Parts: sequence; C-alpha cells; structure tokens
Amino acid sequence: MRFAVLVSGTGTNLQALLDAEANGALAPAEIACVVSNRPSVGALARARAARKPALTVDHKLFPAREPFEDALLGVLAEHAVEAVVLAGFMRILTPRFIDRFADRILNIHPSLLPSFPGVDAQREAFEHGVKLTGATVHFVDAGLDGGAIVLQAAVPVADDDTVESLRAKILEREHEILPRAVALLAAGRIERDGRRVRLKPAPAVLP
Ligand code: GRF
Repeated sequence: MRFAVLVSGTGTNLQALLDAEANGALAPAEIACVVSNRPSVGALARARAARKPALTVDHKLFPAREPFEDALLGVLAEHAVEAVVLAGFMRILTPRFIDRFADRILNIHPSLLPSFPGVDAQREAFEHGVKLTGATVHFVDAGLDGGAIVLQAAVPVADDDTVESLRAKILEREHEILPRAVALLAAGRIERDGRRVRLKPAPAVLP
C-alpha cells in the first residue's frame, strides 16, 4: 500500500517511518512521497536523504483550505497514493479530503487521547499533573484528534521530569507505534467497528 507522509517540521516521526521501511519493518506499506505544507523544513531534507520524492504544497500560497487541498490531492494522485500518514502535519484537513481517504489516514498524537487533544499536549499533560501520559495513533476524522484509536503507548511521568524530558520520552514511543500502525494498516490487519479498533492476528507463517 502506497503511503504519503504529510509533515510540517522536523520530521523525526518521518525518520522512524523511513528507518522502518529500510529495515523491512514497514512492509507491505511503502512510502510513495513526503509532502510538507511548509518549505525548507527538516522533514524534507530527511526525505531527500532517503531518496523519496520531497514535495512542498505551501498553504500560504492558497486563498483558502479547499484550493490548498486540491493541490495536495493532485500531488498525491501523481504519486498513486492510497493512504496517508500525518506525522507532525499542522494543518486541519476538511471532511472532503478525509472522505477521499476514509479509514486510510493515520495521525500520531503526543498524549493518551482523548486526554489533551490539540497542539501543546505534552505541556498540558505535564501542567495538569498526570502520572501517566503517552502517544496515540488514531484514524483521522473530522474532529480534532478525535478519530478511532489504533495504538497507544503509555509513558509514566517521573517526579523529576520537565516538559522537555517528557516530550522526549513520548517522542521515543511515537517512533515505535507509528511505523507499527502503518504496517498493520497496509497489511489489512486493522478492523474498525465505530470507535472500536481490533487488530487481526498476523497470518500464520508455514514452517
Ligand atoms: C510529534 O510530537 C507529533 O506527535 C506531533 O508533532 C510532533 C512532530 O514531531 N503531532 P516530528 O516532526 O515528527 O519530529
């Protein structure tokens, strides 16, 4: 299954996906292209280093969300993309875009959803004083960080943690669960029934 990875920044989650693909851990998923809504970000350099098409569709060049998404959809069509991963992509997608890839858009979020949706999840969890936070991979629907949950990883908050140390611990777990979820989706092993997601067992390997 051919995935586009949509990015806006540093791209450490993209790097985890690229590394997983290089190690054979992403199959049967394949990274078809990397698209950023911001020019010259680190994620694009990572994509180029891995010899992937590294493209920019700069949202600032479009008067509204729809024409921006039309351009994005055009790029994805050119690369025969079948599914989408949001890896630190900082734009809200419209229902029209989401419907086009229904049940084939995954997002990584740095909290145990539904706690702390939105842009500053690690700080909000830290300041709230939670003892356990983490990372979530979920399907993208029209709500903010609200789609059905595919995988989660928990991160305990230590007494001596800071927002930054917590951010780093969560990021490590993001890098584990995002490639795993992408491989599961491509393998057809994610079964969604409303908000409930079940993972089908891997097919038995003959001795
Ligand atoms: C990650 O924490 C991700 O969960 C959030 O944005 C950050 C992106 O980091 N949505 P990176 O660009 O993958 O390094």
